[in-house]
Amino acid sequence: MTDIVEKNVSVIKSHDITLYGGNRQYEVVLRPLTDEHLPALYQWNADPEVLYWTEGDDVKEYSPETVRQIYGGVSQNALCFAVEADSELIGECWLQKMNLPKVLAMYPAGCDVRRIDMAIGEKYWWGKGIGTAFVGMLVRFAFEEQGVDVLHCFCEDYNIRSKRVWEKNGFRLVLTEDIPQPHKGKQQYHWRLTRDEFFQRRTE
Ligand SMILES: CC(C)(COP(=O)(O)OP(=O)(O)OC[C@H]1O[C@@H](n2cnc3c(N)ncnc32)[C@H](O)[C@@H]1OP(=O)(O)O)[C@@H](O)C(=O)NCCC(=O)NCCS
Repeated sequence: MTDIVEKNVSVIKSHDITLYGGNRQYEVVLRPLTDEHLPALYQWNADPEVLYWTEGDDVKEYSPETVRQIYGGVSQNALCFAVEADSELIGECWLQKMNLPKVLAMYPAGCDVRRIDMAIGEKYWWGKGIGTAFVGMLVRFAFEEQGVDVLHCFCEDYNIRSKRVWEKNGFRLVLTEDIPQPHKGKQQYHWRLTRDEFFQRRTE
């Protein structure tokens, strides 16, 4: 009996928000991430080339059990989305309540600080402007509809595409931390966009 009940419980905590956007070439849709996306999440998280960019550590593969733990855990405090480009499922991203005490300590108490994390798992789609487009969609959603005060996001210095996505969406580099070596990244970059900066940017 217990077994049957547990099988009916969702791994990923979902929601009912869908965001539409894109760029001149492609339509991009962000749909609620659900357990139906788990097979794709298993595939992307078993691809060493994808993990090279998403993980600071030299992990080559996550097991399905670990993938369930990651997305099941994060989705408790995040809105997780599946990314579609021209109707094809290509990746995932999330808007998460800031989980790092060290970062929260940088802001006044009560400030709504969130982070965006992202991965396009279908490698063919890298470098086609989709990351820039969907981060722009999430940023607008965060400030216009969620009342977020600050977006504070991360990448390591070797991830040029990620760095450019933050820059192109108006984020400023506010902190650079040395990463203990040996490690593939030399520095951890902290990117910030505040609510005031977002609305100011829209009037320019
Ligand atoms: C990071 C990621 C989401 C970016 O999305 P994307 O759609 O590939 O990125 P975009 O095409 O929107 O933008 C990439 C930018 O990097 C630039 N770029 C790529 N390689 C570059 C290089 N070697 N040197 C300089 N710029 C480079 C591109 O020219 C583009 O900038 P531009 O528009 O100013 O020309 C995606 O590549 C991805 O998921 N990668 C694997 C996982 C990952 O890295 N996740 C993020 C972890 S922090």
